[in-house]
Amino acid sequence: MALRTGIVGCGGISKSHAAAHANLEDVDLVAMCDINREALNNRADEYSVANRYTDYEEMFAREALDLVSVCTHAPLHGPIAIAAAKAGIHVLSEKPLSVDLETADEMLAACREAGVHLAVSHQFRFTPLFRHAKALIDAGKIGELRSIREVGKGREAGFELMEMGVHYFDEMDFFLDGISWIQAHITYHGHDVTKADIMHSSELCKTDRRDNGIVAGDTMLVHIGGASGAYGIMELYCRQQRHGWMMGPHLLGSEGQLMIKPNPDTGIDEMWYCPFDVSFAAHTPVWEQIELDASAFHISGKAWQSRHTIWSAKNMRDAILNGNQPELGGRNALTSLECVSATYVSHFRGTKVQLPLEERSHPLAIS
Ligand SMILES: NC(=O)c1ccc[n+]([C@@H]2O[C@H](COP(=O)([O-])OP(=O)(O)OC[C@H]3O[C@@H](n4cnc5c(N)ncnc54)[C@H](O)[C@@H]3O)[C@@H](O)[C@H]2O)c1
Repeated sequence: MALRTGIVGCGGISKSHAAAHANLEDVDLVAMCDINREALNNRADEYSVANRYTDYEEMFAREALDLVSVCTHAPLHGPIAIAAAKAGIHVLSEKPLSVDLETADEMLAACREAGVHLAVSHQFRFTPLFRHAKALIDAGKIGELRSIREVGKGREAGFELMEMGVHYFDEMDFFLDGISWIQAHITYHGHDVTKADIMHSSELCKTDRRDNGIVAGDTMLVHIGGASGAYGIMELYCRQQRHGWMMGPHLLGSEGQLMIKPNPDTGIDEMWYCPFDVSFAAHTPVWEQIELDASAFHISGKAWQSRHTIWSAKNMRDAILNGNQPELGGRNALTSLECVSATYVSHFRGTKVQLPLEERSHPLAIS
């Protein structure tokens, strides 16, 4: 029988979850909830969903759901996921999993106790291009993987860490076969961040309406130690976007390089390969595109070429139907948020910080 699925939060990202649930086999999108009736009706009309709620507890009590997508801002992911778990519903949460690790731990404990899955929707790693890049690297296409670089979209680093940063940590976890440690340096208006620079994300990034909890710093350099022995480097700093949002990993190996970037004109991800390591690339700029057969992107007769939620939702569906843990479920759901905390802990201690992180309280909470 198809999984009865609902969505809480009918804003921007819910479009991607609704499209995923409406197009995956063995999934029925049956209910939606938002406190804003206009947002609720717009999204529910788009997908002809009749069962509409302004109270998620009521939706959970009435709809006998198997799965819910949690698509509100981060501070509500915890309460909604815990309520879903109590109602016996599997949870696919948007990123960041929460604004703090203590709440994330409570979400995981509630889901474990109820015997339901909790997974976080870092969809990048599940896309065919990311899967193919990993397979190429594992097969030695770029020699020995040495490092992965990622750069933010140009927003203030403390805010960006909770936006793209968590996605990048997940990418690194994927390509580096796990993350062992984090070392970070954070500045604000040119000086090293101190406790006096801690503020709410909406104060730091005035151009964005999302609530990412308390944050610090406009610039960050984060070094990531991979379990494989290779490194990740993440740079978040303010800049103007002149050529679109070029997010995507640059994978540097001893004998070549790979990049996954959205095409600036179409926004669709492309993978590029250079058969020279970074020290030769400037002199021999031979980059060639690696294309997959179009069928690799097809689900239910449609092509899903960019980093669409359908890829993480599909992994969640399969896990529920097969009785497995989703790939970003269980303890893996916590990793990217743990890296956020470790970034701040490392900056304030001035040392490398090992994962899994011992400290569970928010490193920026002022007691
Ligand atoms: N995975 C990705 O690539 C990706 C992309 C975009 C956004 N996101 C994440 O998705 C989340 C939502 O972002 P967004 O841009 O869609 O936000 P949004 O503001 O567009 O939508 C949030 C919706 O939640 C609703 N809401 C608030 N309180 C509610 C409640 N108690 N019950 C039900 N609904 C409630 C709001 O009315 C709003 O319609 C954020 O955590 C964001 O980081 C992830």
